[in-house]
Amino acid sequence: MDLDVYGLCLGGNVFGWTADREASFAVLDAYVEAGGNFIDTADTYMRPNMGISETIIGEWMTARSNRDSLVIATKVGSDGGLGAANIASHAVQSLERLQTDRIDLYYAHKDDGDVPVEETVRAFDALVREGRVLHVAMSNTTGERLAESLEFAQREGLAAYEWLQPHYNLVERAGYEQEFAPVVSRFGLDVAPYYALASGFLTGKYRAGSANGDSPRASKAASYLDARGEAVLAALDEVAAEHEVPVAAVAIAWLLTKPGVTAPIASARTVEQLQAVLPGVTLALSEDQITRLDEASA
Ligand SMILES: NC(=O)c1ccc[n+]([C@@H]2O[C@H](COP(=O)([O-])OP(=O)(O)OC[C@H]3O[C@@H](n4cnc5c(N)ncnc54)[C@H](OP(=O)(O)O)[C@@H]3O)[C@@H](O)[C@H]2O)c1
Repeated sequence: MDLDVYGLCLGGNVFGWTADREASFAVLDAYVEAGGNFIDTADTYMRPNMGISETIIGEWMTARSNRDSLVIATKVGSDGGLGAANIASHAVQSLERLQTDRIDLYYAHKDDGDVPVEETVRAFDALVREGRVLHVAMSNTTGERLAESLEFAQREGLAAYEWLQPHYNLVERAGYEQEFAPVVSRFGLDVAPYYALASGFLTGKYRAGSANGDSPRASKAASYLDARGEAVLAALDEVAAEHEVPVAAVAIAWLLTKPGVTAPIASARTVEQLQAVLPGVTLALSEDQITRLDEASA
């Protein structure tokens, strides 16, 4: 059964990191109120306080009694790798923190190439058979290992990855478009791009000559401020003005025009930030606007 998800997945690395418990609850409430149902987290969010994001999401779902209306995605492998024993033990811990009996979408977070893909696929399949996981997915890997995993699962009749979570946005295109898009199209995967806002750069808040603020994301986000980054911001400004929406919304809408992309992932540490991103879900860009954004970011 396919997952029925909202067009924006709420990024969970802020919970317990840049958003305290109260602010996290407010962002989660506002997201659900807007129609959102798809929340992304990981066992390692957010280092060094690993598990805090899942814990906050679990407490919030229990407080709101809304578990059954949500699609919860979490990840394993960035702490201890993608070997079978590590996957099995981390799944149990994630379920406990999330206060639930199943993970809707379970990602292999980081594939360092050390574990044969067959072992990882079998470990995920076992969780699906036990009912602890409903769908499986992959994040940071290579196109080759992704295809190998999918071929193996299909051949053996095992649970196959249905989603890919790649690093993909208006200022990070080549990696996804060259290496992964062909595999996505061949296997019909759904795509949930992470860093959909390039750590905040694509909200337009980092500009030449302006102070970059105190966000822990600032240095990474501001590093996009080169000639190409300026061209992307100029195109975003233009399109945002044409639709009278925030720049961040255009960045999300652009991703949603790309083949395979089902739900970009973005985080917000305040309700106001989230409100600026949400219009992207329903924003329809014209062919001409898509071309201008494509050309500025090429
Ligand atoms: N699979 C992976 O390896 C991987 C890696 C990274 C992330 N992820 C997932 O993807 C999600 C998204 O990534 P991300 O949260 O790191 O980055 P992002 O979505 O690209 O950027 C989000 C950040 O931009 C700022 N922001 C958002 N809306 C804003 C607005 N309207 N105005 C001004 N600033 C705004 C906030 O940061 P400030 O605090 O700076 O304001 C917010 O936390 C994560 O939460 C996580 O779930 C996955």
